[in-house]
Amino acid sequence: MDSYTEHKRAEKLEKLPFLCYGGDYNPEQWTEDVWLEDMELMKEAGVNFISLGIFSWAMIQSDENVYDFSWMDKIMDLLHKNGISVDLATATASVPPWVYQRYEDVYPVDAEGSRIWYGSRQSYCPNSPNYRRLAGNLAAAIAERYKDHPALAMWHVNNEYSCHVHACYCDTCAKAFRKWLQRRYTSLQELNSHWGTTFWSQRYHDWEEIIPPRKTPTLRNPSHVLDYQRFMSDSILDCYLHERDILKRLTPQIPITTNFMGHWKPLDLHKWAKSIDIVSWDAYPDPSTDNSRLPNALDHDLMRSLKGGSPFLLMEQAPSQVNWRHVNSPKRPGQNRLYSYQAISRGADGIMYFQWRQSLRGAEKFHSACINHGADAKSPALTRSRSRVYEEVARIGTEMKQLKSISGARTPAQVGIVYDYEAWWAAEYEPRPNGNIGYRDMISDYYRYFFSHNIPVQFVSQEASLEGFDFVIAPYLYMLKESFTPKIEHFVREGGIFLCTFFSAYADESDGIFPEGYPGPLRSILGLEVEEIVPLQKDEFVDLVFHELSVSDKRNCSDQEKPGKLKIEGRGQDWCEHVHPLYDDVQVIGEFASDFVSGRPAVTKFNIGKGSSYYVATRPEKAILDAMLTGVCSSSGIFPLLETPEGVEVTIRSRDSKSWLFIINTTNQEQHIRNTHYAGKDLLSGENLTLHDDLLLFPEDVKVIELN
Ligand code: GAL
Repeated sequence: MDSYTEHKRAEKLEKLPFLCYGGDYNPEQWTEDVWLEDMELMKEAGVNFISLGIFSWAMIQSDENVYDFSWMDKIMDLLHKNGISVDLATATASVPPWVYQRYEDVYPVDAEGSRIWYGSRQSYCPNSPNYRRLAGNLAAAIAERYKDHPALAMWHVNNEYSCHVHACYCDTCAKAFRKWLQRRYTSLQELNSHWGTTFWSQRYHDWEEIIPPRKTPTLRNPSHVLDYQRFMSDSILDCYLHERDILKRLTPQIPITTNFMGHWKPLDLHKWAKSIDIVSWDAYPDPSTDNSRLPNALDHDLMRSLKGGSPFLLMEQAPSQVNWRHVNSPKRPGQNRLYSYQAISRGADGIMYFQWRQSLRGAEKFHSACINHGADAKSPALTRSRSRVYEEVARIGTEMKQLKSISGARTPAQVGIVYDYEAWWAAEYEPRPNGNIGYRDMISDYYRYFFSHNIPVQFVSQEASLEGFDFVIAPYLYMLKESFTPKIEHFVREGGIFLCTFFSAYADESDGIFPEGYPGPLRSILGLEVEEIVPLQKDEFVDLVFHELSVSDKRNCSDQEKPGKLKIEGRGQDWCEHVHPLYDDVQVIGEFASDFVSGRPAVTKFNIGKGSSYYVATRPEKAILDAMLTGVCSSSGIFPLLETPEGVEVTIRSRDSKSWLFIINTTNQEQHIRNTHYAGKDLLSGENLTLHDDLLLFPEDVKVIELN
């Protein structure tokens, strides 16, 4: 794309009605008198942005060359007239029945060879030539129709790619997989060697012998499985790129998104994000448990990280309950607002709901919406529409207008956490040494510390630059990419702190164990080698003792303990390793104190160049991990934005020379914060905060302080 068009696209991104507020709107389910009422209610609720047409393929196209845009023309005009911009879908997520009747290749097939039928939604083979062709035609027809429409603000390609069909195993995919493999390995000999096909008589003598990793009597080849995960993520990405290229050609100035699903294993989102103008995602935390706050925050931070810290859109959240859990708890009064602020505080430039008006028919009729059942225009609508849920939606909409100035603001982070999809896939091949530990659990263990201490983090892939970070953590990095090793070495030598955990750098990119043993090429950076792994049963623990744990952060220990060194005892769970330091100057910070690894290193530190690397050979209990991380952080100049009581989240966003501090009291009690060391003005209440003020937070209070 030339720089003029790039500039136009950037201009259009800036012109979006940020902060966006609205949701999925499905007017095709309603009569036109309801549309008019919707316009009034949307304006009242501060809605300025809606997603249109996501599941409308069958409504728009009834045959190969037969399109009907009449209803969409009307609603696009109506929305524009009411000052509401449109995130227009390409409508390719759900294929109409007539397509399946005509084209067999559109059906996806599962690993057992069974066809996955239509009659629900989002059922298609990503490599189907007919699906790709028809989806491209539809995207082009919609773009041609609306490319100059003033309501068009953004493209919404497809919807939640891979949501229901994570992978397809049909013959078309088999063919495409062979081609993908030929590009990756160039010769069959190479492939055989990377996949280790001398094992179990799996050697391939002809490319045609290779099939997708379908159902087998016992364990499948892990390298084959890993490559198929890569191939599927790429195949689905190709579906997106096919539509994206058409849209880019027809409307180069309109930004393009597709909505992700946060913690979602099938797609390598770091790779995807490169071809997306603005990241958007759908968040459905379980409101019945406070435990959903952390994973939800993690996903927001991950989404913000995908484009190096750029703002994202929260494309969907439920105004109250969903319909797909076993018991669907509502968001209690105030909860929607707290979740919404959690998103904004972590980088969202917009809050959108699924959906605007609750469906009367179909599988989602019990999913909440901004306008509840019973608010039909034929009933005394304008009274019924103002439900508890709607009132809260409207309150948030009003507040969004007060926060306009923060749009585009980013969150600087000193801490990077490696969140690498290929490493995740490889680490979770089943069975593995300890099936009780998942990749995400390990990420969460470390993330939890930063979340609860109000320290911003950014997630990175192994491909990312480590520049700008002071501390990089790589939990459970089982599969190490060749290009990552020199990057870590450079990072540490130049003064960075690197920490990695057990079960890291065991395997190369095709899931072959490094011949030199664990942790492969990281041995010289970490200064150790691992002789043996000891996975622990759920009720087994290993004792730990730390003689020299340096706790230089005075905030987290009692008066008798500060300053200096502490002896701490505790336990590790799930895993330990028999570790040998390779050099005399490797410091053993913590030791195992039970089992046959007793007396062996559990946590080590090794100084190289201007920096150091840490290795943690077990999963320490929270108190120990906290003490360890506090020590590392404070010695690297990494401190909490603010010390807060449990349940109060603090984040920061900055743009140009301005910064906004978010303080969210997620508890239903008053909370006090002593000596805030910030001065500024709360954009919500208008109150001023002066330096060193104590702060009283009311239950579920939110403050957005524009700092002086
Ligand atoms: C999302 C989807 C929406 C709606 C919502 C319900 O996954 O994109 O269309 O189904 O879930 O929670």
